[in-house]
Amino acid sequence: MAVNNNLACSYCHDPAAGYGNGSSVLSVFTGGSNPGSASITVHGAFPNNRIAKRSPNSYVYAPYFPPLQHNITQGDFYGGNFWDARATGYRLQNSAAEQGQDPPVDPKEMANPDTACAVWKLSLRNYKFFFEQVWGTGSLDIAWPSDVSTKHSPVDRVIAAAPTHDPVQITAAPELETVNDTLAIIRWTSTKPGGTDLHYGIVHYGTDATNLSQVAKSPNRRNSSHPDMIFRVRVAGLKPQTTYYYTVESTSATAVNDGVSSRIRTFKTR
Ligand code: HEC
Repeated sequence: MAVNNNLACSYCHDPAAGYGNGSSVLSVFTGGSNPGSASITVHGAFPNNRIAKRSPNSYVYAPYFPPLQHNITQGDFYGGNFWDARATGYRLQNSAAEQGQDPPVDPKEMANPDTACAVWKLSLRNYKFFFEQVWGTGSLDIAWPSDVSTKHSPVDRVIAAAPTHDPVQITAAPELETVNDTLAIIRWTSTKPGGTDLHYGIVHYGTDATNLSQVAKSPNRRNSSHPDMIFRVRVAGLKPQTTYYYTVESTSATAVNDGVSSRIRTFKTR
């Protein structure tokens, strides 16, 4: 499950040491902590891996710890996971479930870039049936993108491919911002589209309303603090004194269409 396929949980949580740190050699070099999956670039460093700042605690009883709570009679805190009990379990009412989200993506442990990577790797392993016993048969039969292994993060790919927002609506219809004899700038506003910050405004145009075969495209940047996005597209190389017909649409930088369409409008060059 580790990002470099080089490390098991039991490397740090040694079964022979009650699933705690079993390596006295590493303790000498690191003061009790264990190196994780990702290497570091310090020349001559040993062990040449990013090292957790603490010693792995034994996790034998971890699932039995209740959510972190203050016992008034004892005048002390009980429950939670990790040395500092920061996996409180408040949200899930289960400290172990909250704690379990960390090791696969902790940069000093398994170091996966996101949880989806860990799930994807898991779906390829011969021990995946342990997880299916808990989550149900077929729970790892996920339709991953075909290039999942070549990209940094499957979840990025899934997000890029899927519409992440409500359908985008045009809120201010396309109109001419400026026009001269050979150039027009068309402007419109839509609700904020999803996907990348960089979007392309696209104008399909022509001199015949039934044949809008020419295309102009301009980059536009989304301002994430604004609810709307203004598009401006530069249409160049036009003929003077000519009536043009056009419609508009927009896409993200990854060519995902925002799903807007406009009725056919016209303008005339000078
Ligand atoms: C690189 C070493 C390393 C690896 C690999 C590692 N852990 Fe840990 N683990 C630690 C350290 C260090 C802590 C204590 C962290 C803290 O308290 O801040 C810890 C804490 C835990 C705890 C909390 C126990 C408690 O009593 O609160 C559990 C459970 C756990 N790890 C499970 C796992 C699982 C499951 C894996 C494999 C997916 C894993 N760990 C991989 C180092 C590691």
